Amino acid sequence: MVKKASSTSESLSRMLDLLNQVLQLEYSLIVHYPRLASAIRDEQARAMVLQLGSASIRHADVVADTIIKLGGNPRWSFEAFPEQLDIITIFQGQLEKENLALQLHRQSARLAPDVLLGNKFNELAQEEEAHIQVVKNILSKLA
Ligand SMILES: [Fe+2]
Repeated sequence: MVKKASSTSESLSRMLDLLNQVLQLEYSLIVHYPRLASAIRDEQARAMVLQLGSASIRHADVVADTIIKLGGNPRWSFEAFPEQLDIITIFQGQLEKENLALQLHRQSARLAPDVLLGNKFNELAQEEEAHIQVVKNILSKLA
């Protein structure tokens, strides 16, 4: 019984670590999406960037809310606007982040202390799969 309790608190703290990792991932550059979008001439690509930005802000909010409900502290982190990088390089980096976010959401779903929370993170993971496709579409419009 003691063992079970300790393994539960262990997976809870692992989940909190994962959630803070994904929070930093989803939020670090997303705040710059409106500015990035305004630099894109292609109308469809611009719309996709804005839509991806608000979808990701919603994810960050769900993640931060979950961290609080599980007794943790959300660690927000913003990155400076990537002045030195061209827009294609920026979105190639975002594609990597989306892939990593997908893995982290899947891991969080497995560690979730209850089915409802597990389902929520499986849903987020599915949405990340859609985000990955959106970033690929953005990149194809920018190329
Ligand atoms: Fe995403």
